[in-house]
Amino acid sequence: MTPPASPRKRVLLAAPRGYCAGVDRAVVTVEKALELYGPPVYVRKEIVHNKHVVTTLEKRGAIFVDETQQVPEGATVVFSAHGVAPVVHEEARSLGLKTIDATCPLVTKVHREAVRFATHDYDILLIGHEGHEEVVGTSGEAPEHITLVEGPDDVDHITVRDPEKVVWLSQTTLSVDETMETVRRLRERFPAMQDPPSDDICYATQNRQLAVKQMAKDCDLMIVVGSRNSSNSVRLVEVALEHGARAGHLVDYADEIDPTWLDDVEVVGVTSGASVPEVLVRGVLDFLAGRGYDEVTPVIAAEESLTFSLPNEIRRDLKARG
Ligand code: F3S
Repeated sequence: MTPPASPRKRVLLAAPRGYCAGVDRAVVTVEKALELYGPPVYVRKEIVHNKHVVTTLEKRGAIFVDETQQVPEGATVVFSAHGVAPVVHEEARSLGLKTIDATCPLVTKVHREAVRFATHDYDILLIGHEGHEEVVGTSGEAPEHITLVEGPDDVDHITVRDPEKVVWLSQTTLSVDETMETVRRLRERFPAMQDPPSDDICYATQNRQLAVKQMAKDCDLMIVVGSRNSSNSVRLVEVALEHGARAGHLVDYADEIDPTWLDDVEVVGVTSGASVPEVLVRGVLDFLAGRGYDEVTPVIAAEESLTFSLPNEIRRDLKARG
């Protein structure tokens, strides 16, 4: 009798994955600030939502604080990639802090849209997660004009002053499909609602979700490398499960993988959130190779080449140093 064929263990590796242009810029900003001004350099909130990145920068002399008031007078403070409300800039000014703004330019774009529509007296329906730093920052641009919409279930409770003068904007790191469903429901209630001038969900969020959608149905298990407070990483697990992956887990490091997750698993999908350095994905691939998953096939959903220049303050000081 012929023995049953043993399963062909393999990995599907999403591309793009990991660092986006905004995260790369923010991390390099803190590294350059440490080089230029010497430690300590204060950073308001986690520079990006990744445990490994934060710990690595801490070892090099970055001090992460929750509030501007925790920064000693006259010190240098970097604002994180998620952006801050205008009131935070004012606080920093009043404390005499030297500020470096590492807000992702694609988040700044949403801030500008909020200011512009508020100036024209629109009601702005901001789709996003309550308490997320990006939402707090964007809402702070025009608190009287912005109403938070967390998802489709919120729509029925929303009130506006004039249904003819409504626009929706969004957090940059949401699920594309869920956001479109929220927009559909909002438009049923407010048919004249305007769209943002261009996509608020950023290219990196969209591309990482696209790659996961393409491979999910072929995966018995999807491992997403990323931290729990990383919105776009958490969304990748959800997208994988919605699109056919039989199981999905978020891990910061390879040693968080429970070997029982691999029971009866033939195909493992691997991807990472936009704040995750590639070294952590390598760790997961090595872990899997050690358990027989040594055949790795890339699933390429998009090519990315966007880069952002460093904040002005850093460029100026780098130039002055020569
Ligand atoms: Fe910016 Fe999108 Fe990355 S908003 S920080 S490019 S996830």
